[in-house]
Amino acid sequence: MTAPNIDVHHLLGLAKSAAHEAGKLIVGRPARPLSTSTKSSPTDVVTEMDRASEKLILETILSMRPDDGVIGEEGTSKPSQNGLSWLIDPIDGTVNYLRGMPNYSISIAASDDKGTLAGVVYDPTLDETFAAIRGHGATLNEAAIACAATPLAKAIIGTGFSYSSEQRAQQAEVLRAVLPAIGDIRRPGSAAVSLCWVACGRLDAFFEAGLQRWDFAAGALIAMEAGAHVQGIDRDPSHGNLVVASAPSVTLGLHQILGTR
Ligand code: IPD
Ligand code: CA
Ligand code: CA
Repeated sequence: MTAPNIDVHHLLGLAKSAAHEAGKLIVGRPARPLSTSTKSSPTDVVTEMDRASEKLILETILSMRPDDGVIGEEGTSKPSQNGLSWLIDPIDGTVNYLRGMPNYSISIAASDDKGTLAGVVYDPTLDETFAAIRGHGATLNEAAIACAATPLAKAIIGTGFSYSSEQRAQQAEVLRAVLPAIGDIRRPGSAAVSLCWVACGRLDAFFEAGLQRWDFAAGALIAMEAGAHVQGIDRDPSHGNLVVASAPSVTLGLHQILGTR
């Protein structure tokens, strides 16, 4: 169903204010140790703050747009009555957050029948708001951003690893092929932030296998709108489950090494 008469700037504003409110909530965490549980594996942790952040974002969005659909990583699943749906990752980078390290974010995307329409990734530790509207470019704290133009041999490339140890063994093999051909590698710990760092040129590319839609929906739009090539978000079987976002200067060489072109 196509969502009629949508003011996409209103959607983006709503996503930004929900992300900023959630950012305040999670940064103001209680001083006591957080209550935690695990999900897909013993290393896949969820905290009480992930759940509280999702609840706050959900309430903020639905108070303004009660007919929209919402899917949230921590269990929200509400069908859309008007063709517009939201994808929420209430804390992307929970392990960093739990350990008191920087580099975590709130990721919120609005999508219609053509894909992601607007997206926001907010990093509360740096007070950085990355945002994009489909066809209208990408911004960091309201200033336009564009990806870098570094040659592959000097490229700084981000990646991430699965919570499954079997999949990690395969990811280590991929790194053996990638590392000798590039400048260096980073494992930031938030896929959403990593995609935004490709968008603003801090990273030259980012790839990770096995991501979920809430990890990349907003960040992939932001990267694309900043000029990056993004492959793997359509779940085309020929791309496996690998999401790759790359500045055009490294796209061909990186895909050749990854075997994805
Ligand atoms: C994770 C982060 C991490 C990535 C994992 C994701 P979460 O999300 O984005 O960087 O490597 O694949 O699941 O669990 O912190 O929301
Ligand atoms: Ca995530
Ligand atoms: Ca999460």
